[in-house]
Amino acid sequence: MKIDRDKLIRCALDAQKNSYAPYSNFNVAAAVLCSSGKIYTGVNVENASYPVSVCAERNAIVHAAAEGERQIIAIAIVGGANAVNTDYCPPCGVCRQVMREFANPNKLLVIMAKSPTDYVEKTLEELLPMSFGPDHLK
Ligand code: THU
Repeated sequence: MKIDRDKLIRCALDAQKNSYAPYSNFNVAAAVLCSSGKIYTGVNVENASYPVSVCAERNAIVHAAAEGERQIIAIAIVGGANAVNTDYCPPCGVCRQVMREFANPNKLLVIMAKSPTDYVEKTLEELLPMSFGPDHLK
């Protein structure tokens, strides 16, 4: 499938306004492209009980799964203090493992963006080598 990076990053940037991060003020958003061709977004949602907070990537993937998606092709991530994306925002370890559940690690593109034209991309295999996944339970 053709991956429209510009569109995916713009979806993440657009969602970033909905990030709920009153404690860290670090606003993150993610947009995930699924095998259906549909895009789902998510933002970080923090909680007064800090550890209960949920990352943007996980919210986007759970959103997609709840709509029936089971295969993710690419995910764009944007994040920065007060929604100013001065650095590339790498996904945390827990989110990498959640991506693993619904992706081929060699194929999933993880796009970390500052803007639609300024981004770096890695495969999930590069970010989470020798990972544990659904096949191990078969
Ligand atoms: N955060 C994400 O949403 N995704 C990541 O991959 C890194 C961290 C959020 C969690 C918390 O709300 C804030 O960024 C600061 O850690």
